Parts: sequence; structure tokens; C-alpha cells
Amino acid sequence: MNTGDQQFASKEDAQRASYQAGKVFLPNTAVSTHELFSGRKRQITLLLDAINQTGLHAVVFGERGVGKTSLANVIKPLLAFLEQELEEGDRKVAVRINSHAADTFSEAWRRALDELRVQGPQIGFKPSGSGHKSLADAYFADAEISIDDIRRLLPTLGDSVFVFDEFDRMQHAEAKAFTDLIKTLSDYAISTTIVLVGVAATVDALVADHESVHRAISEVSMPRMHPEELRAILAKGEERLGMKFEPDAAEFIVKMSQGLPHYTHLIGQHATRQACSRGSRVITLNDVSESFREATSRAQQTIVKQFTLATRSAHKDALYGSVLLACAITASRSIDDLGFFQPASVVEPLKEVMPDREIQIATFRNHLAEFCEEKRGPILERTGQQRNYRYRFRNPLMPPFVIMNGLSNDLIRVDTVTRLVKTSRQDLSSPNGQLPLF
Ligand SMILES: Nc1ncnc2c1ncn2[C@@H]1O[C@H](COP(=O)(O)OP(=O)(O)OP(=O)(O)O)[C@@H](O)[C@H]1O
Ligand SMILES: [Mg+2]
Repeated sequence: MNTGDQQFASKEDAQRASYQAGKVFLPNTAVSTHELFSGRKRQITLLLDAINQTGLHAVVFGERGVGKTSLANVIKPLLAFLEQELEEGDRKVAVRINSHAADTFSEAWRRALDELRVQGPQIGFKPSGSGHKSLADAYFADAEISIDDIRRLLPTLGDSVFVFDEFDRMQHAEAKAFTDLIKTLSDYAISTTIVLVGVAATVDALVADHESVHRAISEVSMPRMHPEELRAILAKGEERLGMKFEPDAAEFIVKMSQGLPHYTHLIGQHATRQACSRGSRVITLNDVSESFREATSRAQQTIVKQFTLATRSAHKDALYGSVLLACAITASRSIDDLGFFQPASVVEPLKEVMPDREIQIATFRNHLAEFCEEKRGPILERTGQQRNYRYRFRNPLMPPFVIMNGLSNDLIRVDTVTRLVKTSRQDLSSPNGQLPLF
């Protein structure tokens, strides 16, 4: 961008871009279009391979907020794009529903089949809203839907994909029925793909009796997003808004995001608006740091509540806020894949937060213990033996919020965060593995 183009031509243009920023950066909504979706090439390839291979199903699992629903959402537009040459009847039917805690196997399938409408007397299916009877009503009326009912029905749909999101909410016994269904569909070579999506560290934690179906399941692990993938989210915003992030501004947003795209969208949106309010098309590091106050106030309510509960104190000079900030910085530097850190590694960050105070582990040992108690959330959890405890944040979305809050309340400076915080725990890994597609 030339220097001459750096300002918006008019105040109205800047206002329009500020408004558009709310459509391009979506901190609280899963992405549902191919255009706004960034990265995740390896996961997309694995999913499409599972979809195209009869007998193979998929499980998408990872931490909260890493982008699982967004991946599940783009299956449908992606298939539509890839199959645009095919006749309508030959295209795959794709349905995604959220599982609920109280769902039985039958209720979950009823909701999934409610998404499809019967077009003619028997064959032909349309997405919901076309006025015809839903598939669930047409086939099952009020009856309980069993594994065998589903096995008999699915072949009449042709190639299809059914995604059950938030699958971790299902009760164990009901989740087990899905394992049995996968086994059955695989044995009968039915060309429907079941995709189970949920918060979990391993497939075993999500799929009951996983061992019995492991050959029929493609494991799609969703790690935190790679810095390159997060930069791609900002680049899409730049392109659509006709604006530009200065390199240090983009780097700082990526660093603050810690691989969690929610924060890339949240900070990206507010930093963009900050630049618009100056009439500038160029988003600077100063815009980013000025945006933290607004961004923290717009963060997810559950995060704000958990943070307030953890740090509240009647004493003005209590250390809870500072210790938690040091923990958040330490978590970003953790080399542990699961985000655990030792108390000893909190010392240096806390010295940076409180340069005038003598800091030893004893200074904050009790604070760490309290952070693991109900009265302060618990915001942290701990593992290991006494004398060798390791801690981590229970909510992975918390550390970036704590750091953002520290910045907006001048508890720490941007250059200190730049120096101390690592860009991502997965800094050194490749974003896409080696799978070449897309
Ligand atoms: N590939 C992506 N490209 C761009 N933005 C993304 C991508 N994946 C996720 N996001 C954004 O990140 C945020 C979280 O995404 P999403 O809701 O899909 O995560 P999730 O893993 O399903 O979360 P939860 O565990 O809470 O269900 C949303 O703001 C979404 O827009
Ligand atoms: Mg989700």
C-alpha cells in the first residue's frame, strides 16, 4: 500500500470498513463458509478421504475453541464446491447437528433426519425448509429409532455425511450406541460417513469402546492453529476490507492468540476498528494495544466471570491478579504439550510483573493452591505429587484473556509480552503435516 493510500478517502468509507470488520472477523461464531476458513489442510484432507472411503468414519477431537465446529461446518460447502460438476442426485447429502447432554441415540438421529425432507413418495431428499415431510417423520413417526433402523435407511440416501458435533456431551451409554452403529455401517459397507466431533484430548476419551472400531475410524486431531494459519485469518480480513496490518501488529496478534483463532478474530476486529477510527487503512501495533480494553470487555462472558472470581479480593494490594498474569505468561512458555507448568517457572514472569518486589516460590505458593480451589473457580488444576506439583489453566481460552487484561490495565507492557510470550506451543511444528492437497 502506498503512503498516499494509507488514509480512507472519507469518514464514511472508514465507517463502512469498521462495520464490515464485524462480518469478516467472527470471534463468537464458527466459520461456515469456505471463503472465511483458513488453514487446516491436513484435517480437511483426512476428512475428505474418510468421506470418500466406504467403511471409514471420522472423529474430530481437540481442545475447546480450536476450530472443530468450523471444520465440521465447511464440509458441506466444500463438498458442494468439489461436486459441482455432478448431477444433483449424485451429490452427497451432508448434515450437521449438535448433540445435547440429554440426547438418546434415537433423539440425536431424529434431529439429524429432521434436517432432510422427503421429496417424492419414497426417494429424493432435500435440505429442511422445503415444505415436505421430514425424513424422521416420514420413516419413524413417533417410534424409537434403533441402530438397525438407521442401517436400513441410510443406503436409500446414497452417499451421505452425518456430523454429530459436541459429541462429548452425550451420555456414555448413548455414545456407545454410535460406536456400535459405526461398526455396523462398516460391516455392511454402507456409503455413509459418520463424523463425531468433540472436546477431548484423545479419541478414546470421546469414543466409547474405541478399540472395537479403531480400523473404521480416521482420527482427525485438531491442534491449536499454527501461526501461519492465524496470519491467514488476518490476511483474509485485510483482503476483504482493503486494509493492512503492519507486520509487528500482525505478529503481536498472532502471539496473543496462542493458537486459538477466537482471539485472532477478536483482536483483529477491534484493532481494525481502532485504525478505522483514526481514518487509517493501516493497522499499527499501537492500534492493537489500544484495542485490548474493548476486546477484553467483549470476550466470552464465561471467561470474564471465571477471571473475576479467581482474582477478586478485599485487599487492594493482594497478588491474585499479578500471580495469575505471571501464570498466563508461563503457560504460553510451557514446553509441555498439555500446557502444564511448574511453580519455579512462574518466578521470572512474576518478577517482570512486580519488579519492586522480592519474588520467591513461597511468595505465591498459596495463591497457586487457592487457584485450584472451588472458591477461585478453580481456574487452575494441578497434577503430580506434593513438592512436584504442576499446574495448568482449566480453560485453554483463559491465558490470552489474562494477558490482554494485564496489558489493558498497565500491569505489563507490550514490549515485555513480546519478549516473554512465545508465539505458540506449536511454534516449531508444520501447520499441515506433509499432506499436499489444497
Ligand atoms: N479454520 C478457521 N479459519 C478461520 N477462523 C476459524 C477457523 N477455525 C475456527 N475459527 C474461529 O475460531 C473461533 C472458534 O471456532 P469454533 O467454534 O469452530 O471452535 P470449536 O473448537 O468448535 O469450539 P468449542 O470447543 O467451543 O466447540 C470462531 O470464532 C471461529 O470463527
Ligand atoms: Mg464447537
